[in-house]
Amino acid sequence: MTDAPPTHDYDRVSYPTMAHPQTFVDGLAAKGVLRGMAVADPSRARVLELGCGDGFNLAAMAVLHPGATYVGIDYAADAVARGRALLGELGLGQVQLEARDIRNLGRLVELGPFDYIVAHGVFSWVPPDVRQALLTALARLLAPQGVAFVSYLALPGAYQREAARTLVRFHTRATADPGEKIQQARALLDLVARGSTADNVYTRMIAGELELIRSHTDEAFFHDELSDVSYPLLFTEFLEQADRHELEFLSEAEYVMPVGQYLSPVGLEALRPLQQNRILLEQYLDFIEGRRFRQTLLVRRGAPGPTDAAHLARLRLNLRARPVGPGGPLADPQPDTYQGAGRGQALARSPVDKAVMRALAAQPGRAQGLPEILAAARAALAAEGITPDPQGEAAAGEFLCRAYLPGLIEARLGALPFTLDPPARPVAHPLARYLERRGAASLFTYGGRFVEVEGALGRHLLQLLDGTRDRAALVAALRAFLAEQHQAGAGAGLPAADDPDLPAQLERSLAGLAAMTFIAADPQSKA
Ligand SMILES: C[S@@+](CC[C@H](N)C(=O)[O-])C[C@H]1O[C@@H](n2cnc3c(N)ncnc32)[C@H](O)[C@@H]1O
Repeated sequence: MTDAPPTHDYDRVSYPTMAHPQTFVDGLAAKGVLRGMAVADPSRARVLELGCGDGFNLAAMAVLHPGATYVGIDYAADAVARGRALLGELGLGQVQLEARDIRNLGRLVELGPFDYIVAHGVFSWVPPDVRQALLTALARLLAPQGVAFVSYLALPGAYQREAARTLVRFHTRATADPGEKIQQARALLDLVARGSTADNVYTRMIAGELELIRSHTDEAFFHDELSDVSYPLLFTEFLEQADRHELEFLSEAEYVMPVGQYLSPVGLEALRPLQQNRILLEQYLDFIEGRRFRQTLLVRRGAPGPTDAAHLARLRLNLRARPVGPGGPLADPQPDTYQGAGRGQALARSPVDKAVMRALAAQPGRAQGLPEILAAARAALAAEGITPDPQGEAAAGEFLCRAYLPGLIEARLGALPFTLDPPARPVAHPLARYLERRGAASLFTYGGRFVEVEGALGRHLLQLLDGTRDRAALVAALRAFLAEQHQAGAGAGLPAADDPDLPAQLERSLAGLAAMTFIAADPQSKA
């Protein structure tokens, strides 16, 4: 039997199925809104993903905004076929996937223009002609007020990765089989990690890279560090290339680490004059902090205006940091501290800044509009006998903008369709149920996170949440499941099938799933 030779590496080893919430359109829209753009409403937008793999990312977006339309292209025919099966199983007919090369836009030109275009994990991993074709595609297909997302490897930080890549590519240069290549590369990394007793800049740098690579799946390792193409570049070089296509910088989609988190007082002082030049500031931050990966949002030249906190009123905000300590009276001179993931911090000093942040913190996981937040803040100020003033509120808007940039606050245009109060017939996120059926450890939530749901009972409950069962039906189905498990000898640690506490336990589990944003707001969405 002769097999046709594989067309591409991505057909030989498929890239892992992933969703990238930082590419989701409600977040991209928010960045445009803050710069005064008339971006498309995410619930009706036209979205294109270039190099979409199996389309899982688009499927995740379509669950959030079923009224929008989505097109994904990828030249790996296997991935596209897998994606079509996934979309069929979930009934997501608004997502079309096409096996197509980025260099050949074909009918995409008629399908466009697109309000949002995403190219995640493509630009730095494809040859020069495909990179050019990608930017040309943005220039041809992006709507006048559209927002494009492009991720790439950034210099100088990515040099560290290039160093590790040099070793593994040399070591595996004569090996064709992907499985063997991965195995040999991992063995070499192990040898390098343990082969020297020296403790110098080189060994520490390589050891750091090895730690990172160890956490990659084999498939990601194969396509990232072992790939033939790797094209890291400076942020400003990327923008120069975009400029040749009349595209300009809107914002970074996400700061992997909060901007300036590692700046010393010397660094802060030196960069202060660059505050007015966002692009140079970003470039010098990359120099000082060694950022290695960027997720840059591009728009058509001239489309955005200056960032203006007044636009926050159009967005919904959600706190992504936790308060440190209880916080005293609002008028207390002691600031309230909010700690983000990593080392990002916000210090709320004025009574109104504190009241606004406390209003956000009081509703964990719920996105609120600015009027609602300000109303709660005014009530808290009034309760302490402080008269709110409009200037203070405007300053609080600026404060929220500053907390938003490094990711301490999440902003979206429109609400996400989940509820924290499980309805009578709850529906769980269709992709969470899809992943659960495939035995995945981490399941996808409406909040855009992969979360581990532990225990057979909790995982089975998720499957039951398809909108057809009320509480009584859920309890009955759980009792049947428990009886089956006990009968099969797999019931260790599970409650008895006739446990009288089961209805109360169900309520607790539903509340837990809802808090993790697994439960749909609209019980009609039975996808
Ligand atoms: C590193 S993967 C990233 C997949 C997905 N976007 C993600 O980030 O999870 C790169 C993807 O780009 C696709 N790709 C590479 N060159 C391409 C081209 N010339 N035309 C279309 N797709 C391409 C690959 O098949 C692969 O699915």
